[in-house]
Amino acid sequence: MKGDETMKILILSGNPKKEGLCQTIIDAAKLGANEGGAEVEEIRLADLDMIRCQICGDGWGECRTEHTCIHGSDGFDEIKERVERSDAIILATPVYWGETTEAFKSFIDRLRRCEFGPKGIMSNKQVLLIASPGGSGNGLLSCLEQMDRFCRHTGAIIFDYIGVNRWNSDYTRVAAQAAAFAMASGRKNGDTV
Ligand SMILES: Cc1cc2nc3c(=O)[nH]c(=O)nc-3n(C[C@H](O)[C@H](O)[C@H](O)COP(=O)(O)O)c2cc1C
Repeated sequence: MKGDETMKILILSGNPKKEGLCQTIIDAAKLGANEGGAEVEEIRLADLDMIRCQICGDGWGECRTEHTCIHGSDGFDEIKERVERSDAIILATPVYWGETTEAFKSFIDRLRRCEFGPKGIMSNKQVLLIASPGGSGNGLLSCLEQMDRFCRHTGAIIFDYIGVNRWNSDYTRVAAQAAAFAMASGRKNGDTV
């Protein structure tokens, strides 16, 4: 991002629902990012009809060397371009089985293969991680760890981790809004406040 350009924040959401706990947190993060001056767009991965990774070749497909998915015309390429154009990312998902949702997981599986390493489009991008386990509250850490691993593999910089459940959502919703605001305002991982 150059000098006076508006920061672009992309929310990649694994949420299949349009209402409920997870969406209220995503909306709070969106509000915070807008208040921080960013342009925000949300992509709802569960609404799209994309395939999972086809594990081409004998495991290492062309994606590793060509940095592109040969099945990308199913909508994957377009989202990849939007990831590339964004300055920072918010990854947000409900927790399913202690993991991200299936739609979210299959998307990051493919993106990781294309963008692994320090030269990819995720590299050095700040990423805010939000996971909401709405039932028992179990599986938050394993879900965040899955998202964390994706960031480590793609060289993204984790700005913060936010875990939202039914009995902490009053204050974690505030935290999601404030974290997105801080990121949109230009705060960096490592700054002291
Ligand atoms: C298939 C499935 C698996 C789920 N697994 C978990 C889980 O492991 N831990 C948990 O606390 N909640 C689990 N949930 C509940 C969701 O996390 C919850 O619906 C969502 O995070 C937040 O609530 P919302 O649906 O109101 O947005 C699961 C829900 C579904 C549909």
